[in-house]
Amino acid sequence: MASRGSNSNKIALFKNIPLFDGLTSRQVEQISRLADEVEVREGKRLAAAGETGRELFIIVEGRATVKTPRGRTVRLDRGDFFGEMSLLDGAVRSATVTADGPMKLLVIGQREFWELLHTAPSISRKIMSTLAARLRDADAAYSKVP
Ligand code: CMP
Repeated sequence: MASRGSNSNKIALFKNIPLFDGLTSRQVEQISRLADEVEVREGKRLAAAGETGRELFIIVEGRATVKTPRGRTVRLDRGDFFGEMSLLDGAVRSATVTADGPMKLLVIGQREFWELLHTAPSISRKIMSTLAARLRDADAAYSKVP
């Protein structure tokens, strides 16, 4: 079930997320209005490789597994985010992401995503650096001689 609004519970959640480190209370308050809080059960498919998806997910509680079409598996934990690639380039999901157990997530839609980056440029830097690390990691994995 999704819930939205700038309640103090959501702001408290945001303060524990590394992606939001260093933000002012005002920025956190603004972001809390852009995100939906969602709880999902184990096994829930949050993104499907090759399908359209237009949300960014931030893990508040729980873990997820990313499986790329080339067979790479990456585990994501509390504070990690996923779904940024399709939002940034408009292409289909690059991997399938599944909940390893019950999860609590913040979900940010496409329009809100750009507002988020505008509200807090430090988040843009963190997303870009994570994207670069994922690219290096994927490239290193694929270029390994079998
Ligand atoms: P997106 O392509 O929108 O949907 C699937 C998501 O899985 C992708 O965005 C990234 O957030 C994530 N993802 C894809 N490949 C990797 C990887 N190699 N390492 C970590 N996360 C990944």
